[in-house]
Amino acid sequence: MEQDDPDEALTELRERRLGALELLQVAAGSGLVAYAVWALLLQPGFRRVPLRLQVPYVGASVRQVEHVLSLLKGRSGKLVDLGSGDGRIVLAAHKCGLRPAVGYELNPWLVGLARLYAWRAGCAGSVSYHREDLWKVSLRDCYNVSVFLAPSVVGLGFPSPGYPSICDGPAGAGRGQPCSTLPTPPSYSLPQLPLLESKLQVELPEGARVVSGRFPLPTWQPVAVVGEGLDRVWAYDIRNGGPAGQAVPAPSSTSVPRAPDPQAG
Ligand SMILES: C[S@@+](CC[C@H](N)C(=O)[O-])C[C@H]1O[C@@H](n2cnc3c(N)ncnc32)[C@H](O)[C@@H]1O
Repeated sequence: MEQDDPDEALTELRERRLGALELLQVAAGSGLVAYAVWALLLQPGFRRVPLRLQVPYVGASVRQVEHVLSLLKGRSGKLVDLGSGDGRIVLAAHKCGLRPAVGYELNPWLVGLARLYAWRAGCAGSVSYHREDLWKVSLRDCYNVSVFLAPSVVGLGFPSPGYPSICDGPAGAGRGQPCSTLPTPPSYSLPQLPLLESKLQVELPEGARVVSGRFPLPTWQPVAVVGEGLDRVWAYDIRNGGPAGQAVPAPSSTSVPRAPDPQAG
């Protein structure tokens, strides 16, 4: 249909353009709100962490926590949850006798929530939660470590530029420290290993156990596996300065299938 009155046509055109502009404003506004929620609530404290090292919060399920505890059953010594979220794994491990139980978490809201839950459970003075970057804390005295992270982080191969890589070497020569804290660039590192495995291998003491939820460590051989699907949890032991390669069945766990022996008839 043709428009007879040019004034009317102009007004209609203006209204239409205004509509498109409004749409654009709404889109920009909601993008801003989404970014603000992400930056202030979900991922605060992550500004200095490279994007590919960032992991969103997804709390462990009741089943996953049970599996972690079953793989740490009978053990003692310090427990650390790397990326402790609302502290549920730390609290549960403390109740099972692992002392001290410590959580490292970058999101201050989650650190606060974890402290609140610990206080409500009457454990305020016995567990601790620190707002710290898991890549920058030392694990030298940790005999029990739990990691519920993302595959991008667990399997990450190379350190990001400007971000600490972990240093191997004799004690006192920066072993286990972020390389960036050392006076000279170190010539020793474990570049062949994904970053998380490298950190764990260099820093953990003999006899330590790592439990990894949802995603396995890419190159280590687990000593035990519990659960199915997303509830699956893998256990790895540190023996002779590295991950134990032998599959040893743990109580109430699925033993890891071993490769067929080529010598066997
Ligand atoms: C998948 S959630 C697991 C939370 C908790 N471990 C659980 O299982 O209930 C991962 C957590 O790691 C935290 N996180 C990610 N990168 C971190 C870093 N570099 N340092 C400390 N915490 C980190 C996130 O904020 C998030 O809360």
